[in-house]
Amino acid sequence: MKVTVVGAGAVGATCTDNIARKELAEELILLDIKEGFAEGKSIDMMQTSALLGFDTKIKGCTNDYASTADSNVVVITSGLPRKPGMTREELIGTNADIVKGVTENILKYSPNAVIIVVSNPMDTMTYLTLKTSGLPKNRIIGMGGALDSARFKYYLSQELGCSPADLNAMVIGGHGDTTMIPLIKHATWNSIPVTQFLSQDQQEKVVSATMVGGATLTKLIGTSAWYAPGAGTAAIVESILRDEKKLLPCSVSLEGEYGQSDIAIGVPVVIGKNGWEKIIDLQLSDDEKAAFAKSADAVRNMNDVLSF
Ligand code: LAC
Repeated sequence: MKVTVVGAGAVGATCTDNIARKELAEELILLDIKEGFAEGKSIDMMQTSALLGFDTKIKGCTNDYASTADSNVVVITSGLPRKPGMTREELIGTNADIVKGVTENILKYSPNAVIIVVSNPMDTMTYLTLKTSGLPKNRIIGMGGALDSARFKYYLSQELGCSPADLNAMVIGGHGDTTMIPLIKHATWNSIPVTQFLSQDQQEKVVSATMVGGATLTKLIGTSAWYAPGAGTAAIVESILRDEKKLLPCSVSLEGEYGQSDIAIGVPVVIGKNGWEKIIDLQLSDDEKAAFAKSADAVRNMNDVLSF
């Protein structure tokens, strides 16, 4: 198996590191536009292989798309990260051109790859990649829900005093501070509804903290986070390469599901060797349905900034 990660910034490099440590692929290509940057990071990571005991070959390159040929999975992390006080949406102008160019280059060499989009604003970049590539919709996956759900589980575990691994919880909708929908009424602690243990105030606190989870870290660190985004992306890569059929919320193109069309937005999907293989229909309450429709409107308005 061969995986390419485009963009050797913090998220791309961390994702590459996760994929290598788990030996998900024989060959990993890390590509960046900045001269020497991906080569340097790849050599640094390869020098951990004797210490950590993994056998994946990581090769860094500067804009050499021929090296990415015949990748099974391509991860796009290119573009600017947000700075403190910025929304993900403010990155649209710069990142749209970058993501479009990357997609065109990737397609020349890996026409059969599954593409995972991480660049922000992620739902719009996912839809842009779908439209630019003309690939079947199942092969374009936006990474946001896996990350937001991991953050949701973290905040729930803090409030419950429990292991995050014992929690089942999902965030659907757009990957934005005001558009994501942490489904607290569906969340369980080893199959027991978390609402049984948390007051209304505690539930609201967890939901709010989750929604601004990325912004909180951006403020603390001074730039966008990378450990959880890298791990969230690697989890999707793993489910594809090992054909695990994991159920993860991801941004995918909807054609009537959840009452939406002509948009990519986060819904629960089964991820396997063909990309996203099935959308799972959740029984949403009227409030949750209204929140999803509002989130979809916000993503659609963002898409309208670009002409598809
Ligand atoms: C975040 C970025 C990756 O939420 O969108 O950290």
